[in-house]
Amino acid sequence: MSECGRRARIIAVAGKGGTGKTVITSLLLRFLAEDGERVLAIDADPATSLPGTLGIKIKRTIGDVREEIASPSSVFFSEDMPTDMLIEYRIDEITVKTPRFSLLAMGRSEGPGCYCLVNDMLRHFIDRLSSRYSTILIDCEAGLEHLSRRTTQDVDTMLVVSDATKRGIDTAISIADLAACLHINFGQILLVLNKVTEEVRPMLDDMVKASDLTLIGMVPEDENIRAFDLEGKPLLELPEDSKAVVAVRAIYDKLMGGSHSS
Ligand SMILES: Nc1ncnc2c1ncn2[C@@H]1O[C@H](COP(=O)(O)OP(=O)(O)OP(=O)(O)O)[C@@H](O)[C@H]1O
Ligand SMILES: [Mg+2]
Repeated sequence: MSECGRRARIIAVAGKGGTGKTVITSLLLRFLAEDGERVLAIDADPATSLPGTLGIKIKRTIGDVREEIASPSSVFFSEDMPTDMLIEYRIDEITVKTPRFSLLAMGRSEGPGCYCLVNDMLRHFIDRLSSRYSTILIDCEAGLEHLSRRTTQDVDTMLVVSDATKRGIDTAISIADLAACLHINFGQILLVLNKVTEEVRPMLDDMVKASDLTLIGMVPEDENIRAFDLEGKPLLELPEDSKAVVAVRAIYDKLMGGSHSS
């Protein structure tokens, strides 16, 4: 756990659409919570799918707060409370707190109009909120749009999730390259290969080597995930010995222990 006064450790889970970012985020969240970390999970995908995967209903998002502030007919502002206090209060109010972790959803992106000022304010307060936690775990939207809009601070670890295909790994390389161009410091960028089957497993080592990316782990295709998703059951309840849970546990241990295979 981070020492008191230090800023939170930030882990972002990125990758192309449908590779398993939300699944990996949910499982990492489970282990962080089990280890007693004070975790804030941020769903940075406008589609807001992380809460459902965690079995949580979310009513309001940062997108809603942004619209409230930016609306010309806004009833947001009050003479009784300074604006900065109001915004901080509102963000705190829409943060879902469970005994194990907190969850904040970014929601939809901006509509037409200039939101720069509002975004700056929101970022400031999200950063302030972040200081209450030891770890911030971000389920990114596909691509790195929101990172380039700097809705996040510097990122300690970015996990780029890819499916187990050459095309998938090529996209992961582009995402890692793009990340390197942004004005954000990434402590480390690590590859996660997801939905790995026995069939393709032997071909992956060479592909990873050729990619120049550092692999932190592979997660097998897990029929339990499909079954849970089909029934809408929270992935936090996946059995401990489920293949993907075991694999993400190993990735988590490496992340926390700081040693990575390549
Ligand atoms: N290891 C796995 N085994 C089996 N199914 C998986 C695995 N990982 C992810 N899936 C399935 O793949 C689909 C996409 O997963 P997920 O929603 O986590 O991807 P995503 O990258 O977050 O997608 P999006 O870009 O739409 O947010 C889901 O239906 C999920 O059940
Ligand atoms: Mg997702």
